[in-house]
Amino acid sequence: MPEIQFYLNDLPGNDFNTLFKRLTEFRRNYEGLSFFVMGTPGSFIERIFPQNCMHLIHSSYSEFHWLSQFPLLTTAEGLPLNKGKIYISETSPPEVKEAYLAQFQEDFTNFLQCRSKETVVGAYLVLLLNGRQSADPAIKKSCYPWESLAKAISSLVSEGPMEEEKPDDLNLPYYRASQEEVQQIVQQEGSFMVEHIETLVLDVGGPSSGEEDPCIRAKKLAKSVRSFTGSILQHHLREEVMDKLYGEKFAYLIGENMSKEPIKGISIILVLRKLYQQALHVTFCMFFYESSQTYKHGEKGLLSG
Ligand SMILES: C[S@@+](CC[C@H](N)C(=O)[O-])C[C@H]1O[C@@H](n2cnc3c(N)ncnc32)[C@H](O)[C@@H]1O
Repeated sequence: MPEIQFYLNDLPGNDFNTLFKRLTEFRRNYEGLSFFVMGTPGSFIERIFPQNCMHLIHSSYSEFHWLSQFPLLTTAEGLPLNKGKIYISETSPPEVKEAYLAQFQEDFTNFLQCRSKETVVGAYLVLLLNGRQSADPAIKKSCYPWESLAKAISSLVSEGPMEEEKPDDLNLPYYRASQEEVQQIVQQEGSFMVEHIETLVLDVGGPSSGEEDPCIRAKKLAKSVRSFTGSILQHHLREEVMDKLYGEKFAYLIGENMSKEPIKGISIILVLRKLYQQALHVTFCMFFYESSQTYKHGEKGLLSG
């Protein structure tokens, strides 16, 4: 019976103890399977495994869309480039889009370079990531829900309880890439071949999803957005205004959006295969050329051999 070694990766702050405790239950469901599990704390944009040992890497919504750094969005004079916004928007200057894309490119390239060192030739990377559907990151659907959160912040500012300078420095370290952008980064990095790439559109809320009161749904969604953006906003806004911001202003604005059209969640499925090293590739092609086999057939033979 084959034995499988799993390495479970997350950031060091993750509760690995709870994860390991739940493995007992998992083992009960897979009694015929011989497997071993280890935890691997660390960020996936750095090296987390030894060289040349992994056969399959799978990542499901592991937050590639959170950037490792805040994009630098100030003019040479230090003035904010994206005033009144917290993400790319229709009114943002081109430098804003460029800075966001550049940071995503850097992070995703680091991820690929590290996995390239750690995987064996022919290994698969199966990734599921949050993305966007349109080519332009500035169109309304791509900016959801950050346009509404920026409006909610501006509305609070106009009521006067905050100093205006602080929200202007705020730009979320977040970027949802398009399928084309992801594919281009993979090709530029060069270690992996794209076996499959697909964009999925999922209905995640709005008029068509259930009978629940839209107002309650909007409050729930606002609460969930607060759970992963609240700590970032706290550095820019006073604690006292946070309840009003998320519970009233933001909930109202997303409620308005939800009543008009369903909210779509966009995911990108990506299956990559580690390419052969150049020298091996050439020798191998020559061998099959001589024996009149196709390259594709040969490729499989080498993998299983
Ligand atoms: C939305 S959860 C995904 C959970 C699970 N994969 C699933 O499909 O249900 C995202 C996880 O990615 C982890 N994560 C975020 N950034 C990471 C990084 N740079 N390196 C490793 N893990 C990271 C988070 O700590 C979190 O546990």
